Amino acid sequence: MLDEELEEEEETTETNLSPVGVKLGSTRTVVVQPQGSVIRTHEALTCLATYQDVLTGKRRAIYGEEAANEYPERVQFMLRSGLPEDDERAEAAATFFNKFIQANDVSEDSVVVYAIPTIDNERGLSNLANVIEESGIGTKLIRSYPESLCGSIPAIGTGLDAIGRIFIAINMGSTNLEACAYRRGEQLSRFSTGAVTGNEVDRWISNYVEEETQGRVNIDQTTAREYKEQHGDFNDFEPFTDIIQQPGGGTHEFTIERSVTDALDRYVDDAVDEIANNFLPQLANRYIKIYKQTLDEPIVLTGGMACIPGLVEEFEDRLSEELQHEVKVTAPEEPVTAAARGAQRIAERFVEEESY
Ligand SMILES: Nc1ncnc2c1ncn2[C@@H]1O[C@H](COP(=O)(O)OP(=O)(O)O)[C@@H](O)[C@H]1O
Ligand SMILES: [Mg+2]
Repeated sequence: MLDEELEEEEETTETNLSPVGVKLGSTRTVVVQPQGSVIRTHEALTCLATYQDVLTGKRRAIYGEEAANEYPERVQFMLRSGLPEDDERAEAAATFFNKFIQANDVSEDSVVVYAIPTIDNERGLSNLANVIEESGIGTKLIRSYPESLCGSIPAIGTGLDAIGRIFIAINMGSTNLEACAYRRGEQLSRFSTGAVTGNEVDRWISNYVEEETQGRVNIDQTTAREYKEQHGDFNDFEPFTDIIQQPGGGTHEFTIERSVTDALDRYVDDAVDEIANNFLPQLANRYIKIYKQTLDEPIVLTGGMACIPGLVEEFEDRLSEELQHEVKVTAPEEPVTAAARGAQRIAERFVEEESY
């Protein structure tokens, strides 16, 4: 039989060609790749800081948490707006990404699938493509797929089941709220808004904290994001305290009871409003049959904001109420890494089928 031959072939592909999944996001970057017999996930904040080496006088760059924590005053989140908009940010993104893949030993001899946002920004998308292509990884093949499709893959069945289905995916990211129906992987009725976003929540938190502390506390956006990520919780939010140094001397300890909760509450209400009153009517108008079918299937929430405990249930309740129709809402485990893990599964398929 051919079995022996097949086995041999499989072994060579496994040892030589690595299927890699990439999500180069505005807040975090995630790379997923096999290492020996396990699939490993690497993540870092998408940011860069430069400093002058005191011994050599040369400019050096560091990235990720280290950069954000050591150089908070000048760290650059070059994809803040979602994609590398101009040459300068594209170059910074390339420096960041090259350092990141080097630090994590990402194989050049690889098939790379990377997740892209659903926005009509040709320049940004082509700059992103250049960053990946010029990094040297993916010598065999580089392909991109929509982030919400990649993120839905780990949420729906095993393998690549999601690509065979019809369902609605809603991506809740830093810079956009995106929605579409997927039909065998094809995007129908794409919708995107920059009005309801994780970054906006951070700005609200920062404003609300100022109000809640009667103007005594001003927090920057990174701190607001940390409050949201560490304390945001629809199931059981606990008030928390933090401390600032006051200009006139002494410290001021304060407790946050409402700011994070109020901002997240507003976020879910606004997201439900966009989906129920903009996206779904648009989908129903264009594809009435698909609309009806997808409302009977679980709606998949992807993107980092889906990490907030209880958000999925809250969104399900409020959307059902708004639609006067019971919908089911689900999300992948670990939404922050889901898109890269899904992308990695697609890459694996290309490697298995040797379609490169
Ligand atoms: N554990 C978490 N809890 C709450 N929010 C999170 C968490 N992890 C990430 N987020 C938020 O999700 C957003 C990032 O979404 P993501 O889909 O990863 O990125 P991008 O917008 O770059 O595609 C940010 O606003 C981030 O603060
Ligand atoms: Mg995104």
